[in-house]
Amino acid sequence: MTGRLDGQVALVTGAARGQGRAHCVRLASKGADIIAVDIAGPLPADVPYESATPADLAETQRLVAETGATIITAQTDVRDLDALKRVVDDGVARLGKLTIAVANAGICIPVIWDQTTPELFDDVIGTNVRGVWNTVMASAHHIIDAGGGSIILISSYAGKKVQPFMVPYTTSKHAVTGMTRAFAAELGQYNVRVNSVHPGGVATPMGGGDMVAALERTGASNPKLNAMGTTFTDLPYTEPEVVANVVAFLASDESTFMTAEHISVDGGAQYF
Ligand SMILES: NC(=O)c1ccc[n+]([C@@H]2O[C@H](COP(=O)([O-])OP(=O)(O)OC[C@H]3O[C@@H](n4cnc5c(N)ncnc54)[C@H](O)[C@@H]3O)[C@@H](O)[C@H]2O)c1
Repeated sequence: MTGRLDGQVALVTGAARGQGRAHCVRLASKGADIIAVDIAGPLPADVPYESATPADLAETQRLVAETGATIITAQTDVRDLDALKRVVDDGVARLGKLTIAVANAGICIPVIWDQTTPELFDDVIGTNVRGVWNTVMASAHHIIDAGGGSIILISSYAGKKVQPFMVPYTTSKHAVTGMTRAFAAELGQYNVRVNSVHPGGVATPMGGGDMVAALERTGASNPKLNAMGTTFTDLPYTEPEVVANVVAFLASDESTFMTAEHISVDGGAQYF
């Protein structure tokens, strides 16, 4: 057991910034080549924080290249299965195979339950559930062709407990938890492991822009729920690299007998 990823090739979605960028750099620093996908453009209108840009994706490319790994980037929407398949097929043709997929792209919209529009609900489910399903559907056959590998679905603390004032987000992240088990069951026969990761608060651009104001606004509607998500430790949130360490572990042969598991990186918040 080495934990090294030499000779591996990893697809990472939501790779332009935040946790996705950290996953790319961490996997590359352990020896994997990277196919980095991000919409790198406008997110749905109800999203309260800034969208990522092509410059963000280019910065991920630069940081991965610094490790000596090869990286292919694509400005692609994970909601578009055909486009995602083209990107992954092309990446596999150029890099030789695919052995790791990290379905990380996601959006988060605070909203009080009776102010949630059907459009907002569809936006969150479209990216966080359909986008994750698309990512597995575009990658699993390649991982099977390579003889097996590791698929890591990024859920959330909200995929185990509740993120208050986020019915669509909590629904989407619980769906990812179930999808993890369902894919793990069927892909196990091909030596493909499927696990989910459940971060608590992570310092990324998702928390920027008007996100804090949106959380305060929604939180004021039922203040006793605001204590949910409190951590047991002194740290209220963590850095993307801490989550990336767990992703790298799940990608490596150090976790070779783990599948259908749901790993929290949340300072204990799911139990508070
Ligand atoms: N930040 C947190 O506190 C936190 C906590 C738990 C879980 N998460 C989850 O972690 C994952 C990464 O989030 P982050 O904190 O790095 O946020 P982020 O907003 O910084 O990064 C998300 C990236 O996903 C991309 N993206 C969004 N929709 C896309 C689409 N349709 N197609 C392709 N790319 C798309 C964005 O452009 C962005 O670069 C998400 O799934 C999020 O729900 C975040």
